[in-house]
Amino acid sequence: MKKRILSGIQPSGQLHLGNYAGAIRQFVEMQGEYEVYVFVASYHALTSTRDPEVLGNNIRQIVIDYIAFGLDPKQANIYLQHDVPQVTELSWILSCVCPKHMMDKATSYKDKTAKGLAASIGLYTYPILQAADILSVDPDFVPVGEDQIQHIEITRDLAQKFNHHYGEVFKLPAHRIRADAGVLPGLDGEKMSKSYGNTIDPFMPEKKLRKLLNKIVTDSTPMEDPKEPETCTVYKIFKAIAGSDDQRTVDLANQYRAGGMGYGHAKKALADLILDHFGDARKRREELMADPGYVEKVLADGAAAAREKVGEVTERARKAVGL
Ligand code: ADP
Ligand code: TRP
Repeated sequence: MKKRILSGIQPSGQLHLGNYAGAIRQFVEMQGEYEVYVFVASYHALTSTRDPEVLGNNIRQIVIDYIAFGLDPKQANIYLQHDVPQVTELSWILSCVCPKHMMDKATSYKDKTAKGLAASIGLYTYPILQAADILSVDPDFVPVGEDQIQHIEITRDLAQKFNHHYGEVFKLPAHRIRADAGVLPGLDGEKMSKSYGNTIDPFMPEKKLRKLLNKIVTDSTPMEDPKEPETCTVYKIFKAIAGSDDQRTVDLANQYRAGGMGYGHAKKALADLILDHFGDARKRREELMADPGYVEKVLADGAAAAREKVGEVTERARKAVGL
């Protein structure tokens, strides 16, 4: 039997190269070999988005982009978190075995409130809902970027606590990080993140994309001098997208080291790479935007499949606690 993976992303803004490099690329690479559950974390997004229209648009766009990036609805169950209400039921059950100190220790609440997000109870208990998302389909692996490791550890702790008290109900999943992914830097060299306003959206119109890439912060080494590729944001992004063994990456590194190459040249090479690497995705996205009926159908099928699996796990948990 195929092993199973589950992952999700919050619809809190346009997806970017960091989401692709850390998370979505893995979903696409693993489909076929694994049974795939990928969802849109719509309830999680309520912790940061309070504009109903913006939320609705973001949800739709993320589904389109999942498919454009290469998720195949024939091989992957793609669904919306709020279409599978048993997940929130499970979240409540888990919250009753979750010691408060476990949430006190979670770093995402501290980080997000420090950045100005409202300190709501939803944000505080966010990792419990995430644990319910995960445990609800008995996955073997959860493919994510590095910053999510703590959430997967909390999920395992909660599952163990529950199992210890009520018997073996939940399967313990492991996180899965793409070997060479790391944390992708944004325009300013910090972690690329929606909340830092430093993201690169690979679906941008070409002209805008080229202009944006020119804003990547580089040092002031003169054009003629040799440069160190590994500390340069432009090169780091190039390498993450093309791959470290790719000839284009090797050539670019050699040009850095040889001197005589300006950062403008490297930025142009990065723009060409993005347009080439995401050429098919960009086309597919246009087609999907014009076919809302298809997207609705994908979501209906995904929700039906998820409800079946999640229903089974929730029933196990309800029985175990005596309901
Ligand atoms: P953001 O920080 O932009 O809000 P999310 O928290 O929604 O991104 O992340 C969604 C997924 O993308 C997660 O699995 C996360 O680990 C991954 N991810 C986000 N930013 C990066 C990055 N800069 N590098 C690698 N992976 C990332
Ligand atoms: N917390 C994740 C993020 O910010 C999104 C998420 C919610 C998730 N539920 C999940 C990721 C379950 C993996 C599995 O990116």
